[in-house]
Amino acid sequence: MRDELKNLADVFFAKIVEPAYKINLSWVRRELMNLGIKDENIDHLYIINAPLSREVWYYVFVKLYEEKKLDSFLNLLLEKIGAINLGKLTENLDAVGLCYDGRFHLKTFNIVVLVSGRGTNLQAIIDAVESGEINGKIVAVISNKKGAYALKRAKKHGIDSIYLPAKKGEKREDYDKRLAEIIDEKKANLIVLAGFLRILSPWFVKKYENTIINIHPSLLPAFGGIYGLDVHRKALEYGVKVSGCTVHFVTENVDSGPIIVQKCVEVMDEDTPESLAERVLEKEHEALVEAIKLISEGRVKIEGRRVIVKR
Ligand code: GRF
Repeated sequence: MRDELKNLADVFFAKIVEPAYKINLSWVRRELMNLGIKDENIDHLYIINAPLSREVWYYVFVKLYEEKKLDSFLNLLLEKIGAINLGKLTENLDAVGLCYDGRFHLKTFNIVVLVSGRGTNLQAIIDAVESGEINGKIVAVISNKKGAYALKRAKKHGIDSIYLPAKKGEKREDYDKRLAEIIDEKKANLIVLAGFLRILSPWFVKKYENTIINIHPSLLPAFGGIYGLDVHRKALEYGVKVSGCTVHFVTENVDSGPIIVQKCVEVMDEDTPESLAERVLEKEHEALVEAIKLISEGRVKIEGRRVIVKR
């Protein structure tokens, strides 16, 4: 992959520098910042007035690739320098997860969904993918529970459905390593926890930092750390007048990561945990699809605890 990025950088370098296009580090740095990428090394090079050498282009391309922003940046470059003949670049593009049809696009956005139960949230994602609302592909549904109805839903839609039970006495991290093997093999761009009743190890969360999202049936930070009907029971006991759901990035602490989407429902005097759960669930389906759509379109930027959405 590094080689392909190098080739790509070389082509752009040749196209930009040789014909003496007026692109300098200041332009590159500004466009990177517009894409939400701030990098100390680039800042340093900018301060010392370094030239935009082949190596700098390569560094920039690697950075963009890691941030999954290479396509947006290449499109900006194209606008700036005019269409170029990509010649034999197709292979390189493929390897770095891009395709080109006059504009650059990231290749399919691969989603892995982790489940343990009935999978109504999974169904909402399947429907959104099938209708084209989400431009992506569910590459696997993985369950730690054998009878999970979610696995049946996945099979019915021709999605690879995998039952991955924990072994007796297996350490959390060891299970997560087996899970990660599948996820990597599937080249997942996003891991969605849709009713996955296992806490993930710090190792796993770190490996997939900003790549795992979870749906929780309350307005976090209220009523976090519990699940199922208990969440709604607690909300009713507390006497809240609104409840709802939260889609958030997963961090080491349960139900505590940066919030991507929240949706509310009104609590009625006659509500039971069951009736409230039912109304919240409808909102969960909307919220989860919205969050996946935003992330897959690269419109989400994390700033500390805040998730900024480009509208
Ligand atoms: C949902 O309420 C979700 O918020 C929670 O687990 C439940 C899963 O429901 N994390 P389903 O399996 O998607 O129907």
